[in-house]
Amino acid sequence: MDATGEEPQEIQLNSALLNACYDGDMEKVTSILDKGASVFCSDETGRTPLHFAAASGNIATIKCVLDAGIPWNSLDDGKYSAGDYALETANSKEAYDYLVEFGYTTELVLKELGTFQVPITTIDSSATSSLVSPTPSSGTKPASSENSNQVSDSDLKKISNSDYLNSSITYIGDRLLDAHNNGVMMEWEEPIMYQHALAICQREPENPKPTQSSLKVLNVGFGMGIIDTILQSFNPTLHVIVEAHPDVYSHMVSEGWTRKKNVVVLFGRWQDKLSELYELGQFDGIFFDTFGEFYQDLDQFHQAIFRPDSKIEAEVAATTGEPASTAPLLAPDGVYSFFNGLGGHNLLFHDVYCKVVQFDLEKLGVDTTFVPISVDDNSISEEAWEGINRPYWMLKQYNMPICKISKDTHAV
Ligand SMILES: C[S@@+](CC[C@H](N)C(=O)[O-])C[C@H]1O[C@@H](n2cnc3c(N)ncnc32)[C@H](O)[C@@H]1O
Repeated sequence: MDATGEEPQEIQLNSALLNACYDGDMEKVTSILDKGASVFCSDETGRTPLHFAAASGNIATIKCVLDAGIPWNSLDDGKYSAGDYALETANSKEAYDYLVEFGYTTELVLKELGTFQVPITTIDSSATSSLVSPTPSSGTKPASSENSNQVSDSDLKKISNSDYLNSSITYIGDRLLDAHNNGVMMEWEEPIMYQHALAICQREPENPKPTQSSLKVLNVGFGMGIIDTILQSFNPTLHVIVEAHPDVYSHMVSEGWTRKKNVVVLFGRWQDKLSELYELGQFDGIFFDTFGEFYQDLDQFHQAIFRPDSKIEAEVAATTGEPASTAPLLAPDGVYSFFNGLGGHNLLFHDVYCKVVQFDLEKLGVDTTFVPISVDDNSISEEAWEGINRPYWMLKQYNMPICKISKDTHAV
């Protein structure tokens, strides 16, 4: 046994496996796995058989190691996924698309099993080294199905919504930070927020003048007030803001948001403000951007705005004495959008989660398209994120979701 805890024969087998993956030799990979090599092994930089198979661009080999159980979202020590190797080393869009499709179907199954735990803004992690062309060496790390997975449970627990809401935050310069120096909101997102605001108000960038006589908008999550300031410039008839953090709310009060004529601020978690929102009726535009929440919360918000469930209807009926409306919170021709930070630290993760959310919205009768927006290099540079514990956006392209109630649903 060597220092890694592996038997010499095991080391040889595992290293032969990495080599065969890199060569894209599916038959050899199958035979080495049959001989007892571990699909969970990795080289000294954390690259797994999946990274090497992806670097070969050979889809049969990629499929072979994925079928053997290696997670599609394995990251190496530089935080690169198999998708990065498929695109950058193999230069194969086909191999990349195969990985996206595999990740997507896997995540749908995990969601059914209730084990899908994805933060709505990512909490990990900048790449720590540049991606180098992988040449398998003879050294391998001990096999472990955990050493290569995405984000550990302990990491996920660090930013729960209640922890965040119960601890202090700081407005400092161009950013809003939580108590652990995680970025809650940053000014570089301003151009993105502008596009979101135009989209939910259905305004043209060249001519952001109103097209409709009245405009009712809802924004969940005030943060630095960037999108709300832009929405105000469109003179909405009614502008509702839901905000749950006491310090953010105090900031809103001191900045005069609670005294604006056309603004209603609902202080509390959106989960606890649904009855009040239903009473306010339908909105032409809705935007959602919270912090410390998970995909399940986003999904629940979608269910709440597109299909209020009977429990909420009963609650509303009990307080108002009136029969409750079961209409979606979004007007039939309205536009809904959300900050799409899903998997924002890695392109493969992001593309997989975009497909998952699109699928879930479709189940609610909602058509989703993604409008690409370039993110400038400065916003994703190391300097931009200096002092931030965990960068939440690392990609060159932001995919802005535009969600509309499908015309087929209208007809029903
Ligand atoms: C990323 S910031 C929003 C930034 C905002 N889009 C802007 O343009 O400045 C997220 C905000 O959501 C708030 N928040 C977090 N959880 C919430 C919840 N469950 N309900 C309502 N607001 C929440 C946070 O306190 C924070 O102010």
